[in-house]
Amino acid sequence: MDWKSLYKERLTTAADAVKHIKSGDRVVISHAVGEPTHLVDAMVENREACRDVEIVHMVAMGKAAYAQSGMEPYFRHNALFVGGSTRETVNSGHGDFVPCYFYRVSNMFTKTLPPDVALVHVSPPDKHGWCSCGVSVDYSKEGAEAAKIVIAQVNKHMPRTLGDTFLHVSRMHHIVEHDAPLIELAPPKISDVEKAIGENCAKLIQDGDCLQLGIGAIPDAVLLFLKDKKDLGVHSEMISDGVVELAEAGVITNAKKNFNKGVSIVNFLMGTQRLYDYVDDNPAVNMHPASYVNDPCIAGQNDNLVSVNSCVQVDLLGQVCSETVGTTQISGVGGQVDFVRAAAISKGGRSIIAMPSTAAKGTVSKIVPVLDEGAVVTTGRCDVQYIVTEYGIAELMYRTVKDRARALINIAHPNFRESLKEAFEKRFKAKF
Ligand code: COA
Repeated sequence: MDWKSLYKERLTTAADAVKHIKSGDRVVISHAVGEPTHLVDAMVENREACRDVEIVHMVAMGKAAYAQSGMEPYFRHNALFVGGSTRETVNSGHGDFVPCYFYRVSNMFTKTLPPDVALVHVSPPDKHGWCSCGVSVDYSKEGAEAAKIVIAQVNKHMPRTLGDTFLHVSRMHHIVEHDAPLIELAPPKISDVEKAIGENCAKLIQDGDCLQLGIGAIPDAVLLFLKDKKDLGVHSEMISDGVVELAEAGVITNAKKNFNKGVSIVNFLMGTQRLYDYVDDNPAVNMHPASYVNDPCIAGQNDNLVSVNSCVQVDLLGQVCSETVGTTQISGVGGQVDFVRAAAISKGGRSIIAMPSTAAKGTVSKIVPVLDEGAVVTTGRCDVQYIVTEYGIAELMYRTVKDRARALINIAHPNFRESLKEAFEKRFKAKF
């Protein structure tokens, strides 16, 4: 059957499509702003028809209604990342969490977590019947390729991004047309502390470097200080609006890339409509699954790759916790370790973990003698290279444990330096 006839035959409503989700099924939902919210709403609406549906999802930007109190008989959230709307269920005992490097997430779909159903969000088909996964290629495309049943929300607002982003209509079992603007993430307000961190990070970035920037105020603050740079490149897990500004200003050209020259490489996007318009049918941006973009052996083929990510706590040895506050899971590993390792492989590469020196309104130091009890080590001490705060840059790689600790204490908040020095002398039995 030709794809147009298939498309017509498989066209249905969200209410009917979600009836194919059965008790005990594992459902993979597309990531971040690629979440097919119309389908997720219909699935939650239809909850009385099923029990114990396992929801596998990474960054949940929608309401995550399936993860809220009262939903326990119907849904169990198995998270790959935790945010505000999913923290409670994941830490409650009902939900669960899979620690996994982002570049390996899609391996789960063929190993421990084969999906029964994938809920995906795609652009309308092109003349050959291919729909783009748009803003969310990451694990969304491979989740759909692995699932027994694919339910697709086709949305004219989903940008048609280029690269390895396409699913064919023949792969979709139930197709629901629903046009709605995508979830938008407003650019964060950048504080003076974050500006100072951004300025310090920018000192480590040179003309022609290839960047990976995480999400949030710190990466956006870094971008503020790159306006005078030339020929920057992008090979990043995600990008947001700040990258559009630098690309339109001619700062990001990808011209010096030795690999994927002339093109920004990304696996997902989060930002405003400005970003979504920028990537639509734009050959200057290629999107691929995380299994390609985040694979350290692939990303590390870029010379001068600079990764910038953030964390919760760093101990005096340079062990980085980015996911938990004590035993409470508040986030996930995401692509942090993928890119720290990629930067280490890259000729001329540098990895930066950047953070404010304090948390909880200045009452606690993020540089600590030992990590909180139960805290997770996300980036190990042998992997970490630069730690940056608003007070400066600490270079840790290939340094002794004492030199690392001294460098870290020198960039801690002044209110905590004395107690950290005492901890240093006690631990290392040496003068600071
Ligand atoms: N002690 C106690 N609480 C702390 C803390 C500390 N040392 N550091 C942070 N927190 C709390 C904050 O108060 C905040 O709590 P709230 O949500 O209740 O307000 C929460 O942890 C998040 O901290 P915040 O500083 O607002 O986070 P952020 O938006 O700057 O993100 C990370 C920081 C570490 C959570 C984030 O960078 C992350 O998830 N990293 C891991 C994944 C990654 O690096 N991906 C990269 C590719 S995109």
